[in-house]
Amino acid sequence: MAGEGKVFGEEIVKEVLFRVHRFSPDGGGARMQEYRVPVRRGMTVLEGLHYIRDNLDATLSYRFSCRMAICGSCGMFINGLPRLACQTQILELESDLIEVKPLPNYRVIKDLVPDLSPFFEKHRSLMPYIIRQDEPEGELLQSPEELNAYLQFAYCIKCGLCYAACPTVATDEEYFGPQALAQAFRYTTDSRDGGWEVRMEVACSPEGLWHCHFAGACSEACPKGVDPALAIQLLKGEAVFVRWGLKRPHPPAPEAPKVTEGKRREGIPEPPLPTVSKEE
Ligand code: FES
Repeated sequence: MAGEGKVFGEEIVKEVLFRVHRFSPDGGGARMQEYRVPVRRGMTVLEGLHYIRDNLDATLSYRFSCRMAICGSCGMFINGLPRLACQTQILELESDLIEVKPLPNYRVIKDLVPDLSPFFEKHRSLMPYIIRQDEPEGELLQSPEELNAYLQFAYCIKCGLCYAACPTVATDEEYFGPQALAQAFRYTTDSRDGGWEVRMEVACSPEGLWHCHFAGACSEACPKGVDPALAIQLLKGEAVFVRWGLKRPHPPAPEAPKVTEGKRREGIPEPPLPTVSKEE
């Protein structure tokens, strides 16, 4: 196929066979459908699906938004692994057969579209936000070291790949799963948080962290290097050390003192006047 034409304005380097999962809730059952797709250098699986939808079959359903591995909506099961379709280069798969299925461990709504509601319900149940007894009005103090303690785990884009890869979720649909528990660790470790007790009570419930078998499949699937398996083991350690009295949950970070007598340093120009008055 090389040199025989162009796709998306670029030279075609080869043609691959896309074998795509099709399912309609209106009946007919699930089946695999095949499409021949011309490939150019740098073309992703998501672009392959765009090619199919635009040129071969407009009825194909799949989910995407940002096309740059940020929004987390294009998670699919590609050649046997959970991956982001927009981040997966067709040529790097080194196969002329691209098999695309919906993510495992989710109910399928249509074709490649999974129902992510249970995933997000579990995420919410572990309170993925700062919990405090007080209501601070200003900034909360945090050192670079305190930021580094949870930063890696804050890179989660909620794509659900770790949940799809988890063998425990596959056998126990009540289990919270790696994403929710990793985020529990992320917020529990945040020096601004004061919700250790309330969040750990949920995390240590029968559906919680003790069900993790440390298979590590979640961390291999994560496209952002979050390492949820590590977060869960650290959360287990946190639970044990605090319960045995070997460690105390950190007190929530104090509020930063208000700057009352700020003085402009020499040489810094005045800000421009507002272009819109507040009264308008
Ligand atoms: Fe946003 Fe792939 S489309 S992560």
